[in-house]
Formats: sequence, C-alpha cells, structure tokens
Amino acid sequence: MSVAERYVAAIDQGTTSTRCILFDAAGRLASVAQREHRQHYRRPGWVEHDAAEIWRNVGRVLPEALADVGATADQVVALGIANQRETTVLWDRRTGEPVAPAVVWQDVRTQQVIERLAGDVGVDRFADVCGLPLLTYFSGPKIAWLLEQDPSLRERAERGDVLFGTMETWLVWNLTGGPDGGIHVTDVTNASRTMLMDLRSLEWSPEVCAAMGVPMALLPQIRSSSEVYGETTTVVPGVRIAAAMGDQQAALFGQTCFSPGEAKCTYGTGSFVLLHTGSELPRSTHGMLSTVAYKLGDEPVQYALEGAIAVTGSLVQWFRDNLGLISSAPEIETLALTVSDAGGCFIVPAFSGLFAPHWRPEARGVVVGLTSYITKGHLARAVLEATAWQTRDVVDAMDADSGVALTALKVDGGMTSNNLLMQTVADVLGVPVVRPMVSETVSLGAAYAAGLAVGYWPDLQGLRRNWHRAGRWLPAEGSDRRQGDYEDWGRAVQHTFGWATS
Ligand code: G3P
Repeated sequence: MSVAERYVAAIDQGTTSTRCILFDAAGRLASVAQREHRQHYRRPGWVEHDAAEIWRNVGRVLPEALADVGATADQVVALGIANQRETTVLWDRRTGEPVAPAVVWQDVRTQQVIERLAGDVGVDRFADVCGLPLLTYFSGPKIAWLLEQDPSLRERAERGDVLFGTMETWLVWNLTGGPDGGIHVTDVTNASRTMLMDLRSLEWSPEVCAAMGVPMALLPQIRSSSEVYGETTTVVPGVRIAAAMGDQQAALFGQTCFSPGEAKCTYGTGSFVLLHTGSELPRSTHGMLSTVAYKLGDEPVQYALEGAIAVTGSLVQWFRDNLGLISSAPEIETLALTVSDAGGCFIVPAFSGLFAPHWRPEARGVVVGLTSYITKGHLARAVLEATAWQTRDVVDAMDADSGVALTALKVDGGMTSNNLLMQTVADVLGVPVVRPMVSETVSLGAAYAAGLAVGYWPDLQGLRRNWHRAGRWLPAEGSDRRQGDYEDWGRAVQHTFGWATS
C-alpha cells in the first residue's frame, strides 16, 4: 500500500457538531462527514447536550468519512480526537448510560458553587495549583454540582461505579468497548480545564478534589496528548487511538504554533486566542488563563496563555435566529457592507457574563449608541465589530502579560470566511491577520498529534512545511488601531457590569 492511500482520521467533537475528517500525508483534507447535535436550554443560563446523541453521531461520521474515499479501517493509521473542552459527562460504568445531561462549558448553573468555594479567599483560591480562577466555565465545579443533586450518585461515584469525562474521554471509552473494557483516559490539555489537575505535576490534585467534593475514583487517567491509548473495538474496529486534545489546543497545534511566542485565534461559537509560551508555566496578571498547550509522549509539557471569548459566532446566530434580520450567517457580511461603519453603535454580547479579560459572570449584554439613524446594516456591523473589539481586549491583555507585542495573528474557524470581519480585526489590532490553506485546524491538530505518535509524520519541522497561507489582511492605512472607537467600546463594556444581581 502506498503512503498516499493511508490516512489519519480526526474527530472534532465541537459545541454544535461532530465531524470526522481524513487527512493525507501532506496534511490535505481527503474527506469530511459531519452531524449536528441538539442544544438543550431547560432553564435560563443552562446549556446541555445529550452525550448519547453525540456518541451516536460519532458512530455515523467515522464510517461515513471512510466510505467517502472508499477506505477501510486498515488504511487509517491512527485516529486523533479534538473536543469542546470543559463540557462534563457523568455516566454509569456498567450500563454506559449518561446519568444526567452533559453540562456544557457555557452553562452558568454552578455560580453558587463557585461563590461558596471562593468564600473569603476569592476566585483565585486554587489558581496556584491549576492556573485557573473559580468560574462556572470549568468542569470541576460542574461535577460538584451534579453530585450535590443526588446523594446516591455521590455514593456510586465514590465506589467508582460512575465515571467522569469530558467529550474525548467519553468517546475513547465508547470506542474502546464502553462497558466491555472501555479505556478511561483523558489528556493533559483537557485535564488542565477541569481545575482539578496540578499544572506542574500533571496529576490530579487530591487537595483541590477534596475541597470541591469530587471523588477521585471517578476521574480518568491523565495521559499525554500524543500516544497510543488503545485500539477501537466498536464503530470501525482496529484503529489506533493516538491523540486527544482540547479543540483550542488542537487548533494551536494544527496552526503549527510549535514555538514560544506563536499565537492563533479560532473564530467559532466563541473565540479563543492561545499563545504558546514554552515549557515554563506562565502566570497572568491580566485575565488570561494558564493552560497546557500540549504534551507529545514523554517530551516536556508545553504551556500556553489563553484568552477565551464566550460569544462571537453565536452572536451572529442570535442576530439570525432571535432577531431574524438575516436568514443565513454569511448574509451578515452583505448586510454590514450596506453601510460604511456601525454609526456609533456598539453591541457587547455578555449573554452569560463576560469572559477574558474581564471575567464578570454578572455582566449582561448591551446595545449602546442607538439613534433614529441606525439601520439593520449598522447593527450587522456592530455585531461583527463586537468580535473584533473582543479580540483586541484579549490581545492587549496578552501583550501586557507576555511583555511582547504580537506581530501577526494566525486565524482559523468558520468566521474567517468573512472578509469584512478579518479586515476589521486587522484594523483594530494594527497587525496582519493570516489564514492557512487548511482552515480545519482543530481536526488537523488532532490528526498531526495522532500521526506523530505512530510515526506517520516524523517530526514537527515536516508539519511546519505543510502550513500554507491562503489569506492575509493588512491593517488599513490610517486606521491607527481605531483608538477613539476602542475607547467607546470600553465605555460600552462598562455598561454591562453589574446587571445580573442573582
Ligand atoms: O472551551 C470551550 C471550547 O473548547 C469550545 O470550542 O469550537 O466547540 O465552540 P467550540
């Protein structure tokens, strides 16, 4: 069999859909299969997924991607998984059934747990150990909340009859047999988003687990991001599962940001800027998160600083579905181009608080600067500009943390097909914005990590050569980082603070 006929498969289990992509040796896309899953909003602030539905979707997209190119399992040299991070699944070890709906990363139900844990010490109570402030975003408090609902569940968890996982753990367990011997593992990047892992030792912290009331018996084994965990026995049996990474870390890897100082922003439901900082644990004083970038087998762990923005693409969805001002997401660019600016209007989409760099859970969204002059075109511009301004907030904070100003931003994700948005990001950052040929960087990163583990790709240098630029946006002459507008944006952000009182 020639190299050209062998593929690495990647599963990208995201917030809204699950896809499987096959890549060839040049890192090119050979086939794609995708399924969306439902979002459940049972109460204000709650966001849930059905983990069983997501597992069923994996059972479809994996064979579909193979069938698309007529490939069989023996042509897939390895499988890598990238996933929405923090989303929390608890399931019964014997039946394989989830014991509750998965609590999604955007869900804010744990605010009271957070306040209790923060107590008089404050939200940085565990930051020295896990690099993260106490926020509803992360998995540990979500596990605590689920166990607090049902004392019998806690007893089962303490006996090891209930298992915890983020999506990669849930999928690896099911792909390797589920109740019949499924492997219960996570990788360092996903574990770094639970608040339960010590960022230096890369092991679960007994102290943090005890303080949060999380029994260690339900936690998976922590492994590197790139090694063979086991072989699939279900769906498409006989494929080595050789990588797992949180999707944002996978995008950093897929963008070949292998050296300290390299950064990317992935524009999806939310947007996430990650800056590779090397093997020394970084600490932020400007609202960035310290997180694991990746760990390849036995090599030293690599860390990153992250600026997480909760609402970007989902603001466009809201504009489409809740306001009905466009009928498809790409139409926002056409509508925004009917005007030359936002007419002094700003939309701050603090739908469930503001993430980085503010971390204000009680913030709620605002539209400011409305006059009778404002049309839906101006609102469309303000929607797109909200993403650009939020990127500026995060990049400025990251520059302040690292002491080095970013010289270019690598971008990827669905929103990067919007030229107006990308130009606006370049204008407000004052640096070039570049997009690679393969925009599926999340899947590509998982594939790279899996392919490296099995020797399909020999080293990182070879992968760098696969990165080709497809798009570049330079800051417009005289945009001067749009300083006056940025100050107005800052005032708009101030208006979001303190809205939700409970
Ligand atoms: O931390 C949440 C993030 O991993 C979700 O990413 O692309 O699935 O919305 P995405």
